[in-house]
Amino acid sequence: MKKKVFINEKIKKFNNKIIVPGDKSISIRFILMASMAVGKSTAYNILKSEDVLNSLYALKKLSINYKIYKNNCEIYGKGLNGLDFKNNTVINAGNSGTLARLIFGLLINSKNQIILKGDKSLEKRDFSRVIKPMLMMGQNIKSNNNKLPIKIRGTNFPRSIHYFESIGSAQVKSCILLAAMKTPGITKIDAIPSRSHTENMFKYLKLPIKIKKKKKLELISFKGMKNYKGFNYIIPGDISSASFFIVLTLLTENSKILIKNVNVNSSRTGIIDILKKMNGKIKIKNKRIYKGEEIADIECEHSPKLKGIKINPSINSRTIDELPLIFCLVCAKAKGISYAKNLGELRHKEQDRLKFVIKFLKMIGIKVIEKNNNLKIYGNPNLKLNGSYIVKNFMKDHRAFMLACIAALTLGGKSWSIHDLDSINTSFPNFVSLLKNLGAKIH
Ligand code: S3P
Repeated sequence: MKKKVFINEKIKKFNNKIIVPGDKSISIRFILMASMAVGKSTAYNILKSEDVLNSLYALKKLSINYKIYKNNCEIYGKGLNGLDFKNNTVINAGNSGTLARLIFGLLINSKNQIILKGDKSLEKRDFSRVIKPMLMMGQNIKSNNNKLPIKIRGTNFPRSIHYFESIGSAQVKSCILLAAMKTPGITKIDAIPSRSHTENMFKYLKLPIKIKKKKKLELISFKGMKNYKGFNYIIPGDISSASFFIVLTLLTENSKILIKNVNVNSSRTGIIDILKKMNGKIKIKNKRIYKGEEIADIECEHSPKLKGIKINPSINSRTIDELPLIFCLVCAKAKGISYAKNLGELRHKEQDRLKFVIKFLKMIGIKVIEKNNNLKIYGNPNLKLNGSYIVKNFMKDHRAFMLACIAALTLGGKSWSIHDLDSINTSFPNFVSLLKNLGAKIH
């Protein structure tokens, strides 16, 4: 595979219907949940990306079998206590924070030790957020400064806990919920709201979960130890992948797009709310509910009157992965100043994404001020680039690569050279070919 791409001209107008690959968060959750079901589970339209494949390889190490077909995947679950592996089995989560964090939950009562590893980017990330609740539940964990590689051994007597999840992290919440499946008694989590796919899957499988929504918190309680049968699931399109095409369309004259069958769970649609407030022309059509998840078609068109925004920080966790795209492209091209606050979590992603945003905005000549993880972005609707731009050294962050391609195709400039093309395999392997289908010239 080529190592980098070159883009030397803006994309011309387009009017297309597209589909984006299956949702990454739901694909990984399906795999982990199916491993604990009794019997065969099948997912249709599962995302075939490295993060998802690494989740399947992890199951194999735990003696759970699977078959993968073109777009489908069958998993042969062995019930709540069906995992089996030799002492010091190595699991490599690659780039996937979600797999690495959620798998702690699966291993809450494992007899033998797992050595959990990851790639260079994952090795830099902090795992204290899951180590803390897992230690409370009785897991045995050895790490150097809460970083990978980490040794994980379960306990014969997992303890139910009452945990305050204060980060707004779906990975932490889901890790605890997966552990709670194998734990007697009632586990309680008082959580700052975050994506709700795990809870929705629990509800669909009729597992005993209760959720009370308070003003700023969700009070979740779950009674563990209930076996469930294998299940079928059609994975909807990933709104995080769709977002690159939404922004591309908003910024391209005379263009329109219809993105079919996208997951529009309200815990993921912060980007739609933000872009609409900025005068983005976006419509959600044909909304329906599938197994507790909301699915819809997203239609959007060129939006020449974008304006700056004050983003309410309570929306951050509803669009955490799209914030860099919004800042670097939409706020940059909007009229007026945009403000965003409490962005510390962006520093804990595949790379320090807040640092990347600031560097990128400065590179394209947009004034930006950062103070205590708050941003002030001075938009310029007349922004026209004419330099040559090189985007590299971003820890192979897939979303940084894709954001840079959308920038090159909408902002112009003499030439863009964007490194680490292989990063798209993490979440969106056909990203470049979909862009080429819309007429983008990418070499
Ligand atoms: C994810 C949750 C988010 C997100 C990540 C996927 C998930 O992370 O950034 O890409 O599938 O649960 P946090 O839960 O750490 O915010």
